[in-house]
Amino acid sequence: MENFTFYSPTFFVFGKDTESQAGEYVKRFGGTKVLVHFGGKSAKSSGLLDRVEASLQKEGIPYVTLGGVKPNPRSGLVYEGIDLCKKEGVDFILAVGGGSVIDSSKAIAAGVVYDGDFWDFYSGKPIEEALPVGTILTIAATGSEGSPDSVITKEEGMFKRGASGNAIRPKFSILNPALTQTLPPYQTAAGITDIMAHLYERYLTNSKEVEVTDRLIEALLLTMKHEGPRVIADPDNYEARANIMWAGMVAHNNTCGVGRSQDWNSHNIEHELSALYDCAHGAGLAVTMPAVFKYVMNHDVNRFAKVAVRVWGCQMDFDHPEVTALEGINAFQNFLVSLGMPKNFEQLGAKAEDIPKLVDVLCNGDGRTGSISGFVTLNEDDCTKIYEMMV
Ligand code: NZQ
Ligand code: ZN
Repeated sequence: MENFTFYSPTFFVFGKDTESQAGEYVKRFGGTKVLVHFGGKSAKSSGLLDRVEASLQKEGIPYVTLGGVKPNPRSGLVYEGIDLCKKEGVDFILAVGGGSVIDSSKAIAAGVVYDGDFWDFYSGKPIEEALPVGTILTIAATGSEGSPDSVITKEEGMFKRGASGNAIRPKFSILNPALTQTLPPYQTAAGITDIMAHLYERYLTNSKEVEVTDRLIEALLLTMKHEGPRVIADPDNYEARANIMWAGMVAHNNTCGVGRSQDWNSHNIEHELSALYDCAHGAGLAVTMPAVFKYVMNHDVNRFAKVAVRVWGCQMDFDHPEVTALEGINAFQNFLVSLGMPKNFEQLGAKAEDIPKLVDVLCNGDGRTGSISGFVTLNEDDCTKIYEMMV
């Protein structure tokens, strides 16, 4: 296990009706003037936004609202949010929605207290200071409710980049699994895929002797394997939703990633797809991961065979571990397809003729120099082959 530090100070409030306590928690974490940030329509039409506003009013906390965050959130609304917060003297950002709303909120929070362009943080500058952020989560997926990360799409060029810093870890996150019952099945499945991707990205490591985190990851993957089909068959199953929601947080606040190197090549390769085609991030990952895994499998075939046996129930072939490894990757892909996820470019809405453009932005965009690195380093040729495997 490698040396590490781990700081995860978010206060979690989990369970039914907990959104009605939003005002109390904003007050507890020092907010005196709030920006309530939300998405397209779901928070409004479900009545959630009304309940959150009522909770702020009950505590006598003034607020302004800014809706319209799109999935794969854009830089334009972030600039708008920063201006609004400065004009209104906002000192606390309350995100009501999914990962896109939370990430847009984090970007605004960092941008308000920074004199330069907030995009600097998405070009590699660490975030050291930000307004406090609280979240009320409506989809189990990104883990942004407990993570120090934010992903934004820059409209000029349509490319997607991440920023990071403990300053943008939410001060509190309200997690009511019942709020996710209104999700369309496709979004539920995309969320499950993203959670599993966050686990695989950590499982694919070059660090040795990391049994605790290996076993935690395997337990969470097994939980998703159990709960995924249950929630797709019965969207109102509160208990399944509750397990998925907490798994989503644990999968990405780095509990499972400490003391080990991590991969993130699948995420980087996927981000170009959701930036260009505006597909759901989880759906893009469903197409990306099997291709990446097959391409890099021989780098550590025993690691792939281990997850195949421990999670996917494959029989270990000791003479040919690559057979077991491949079986596990196929079982994972079949599982995602059974939830309703796409399995190739066509089903995702991506086009083979765009591959050179995807590879160029991926490997050379925004400061990169011809490759991406993780479990293995992938150059332009490797990335081209991986995208071609998805066609
Ligand atoms: O805008 P509304 O109307 O709310 O619709 C949303 C959106 O269309 C809808 N939705 C959300 N909650 C709902 C609901 N519909 C009905 N009922 C509800 N309860 O679902 C759609 C997707 O929402 P979005 O927030 O985009 O989904 P998700 O949470 O998957 O976030 C995806 C974004 O997060 C980034 C992704 O790249 C993508 O941009 N990521 C962020 C990470 C992080 N900050 O740590 C890590 C991830 O790996 C990921 O990259
Ligand atoms: Zn993700």
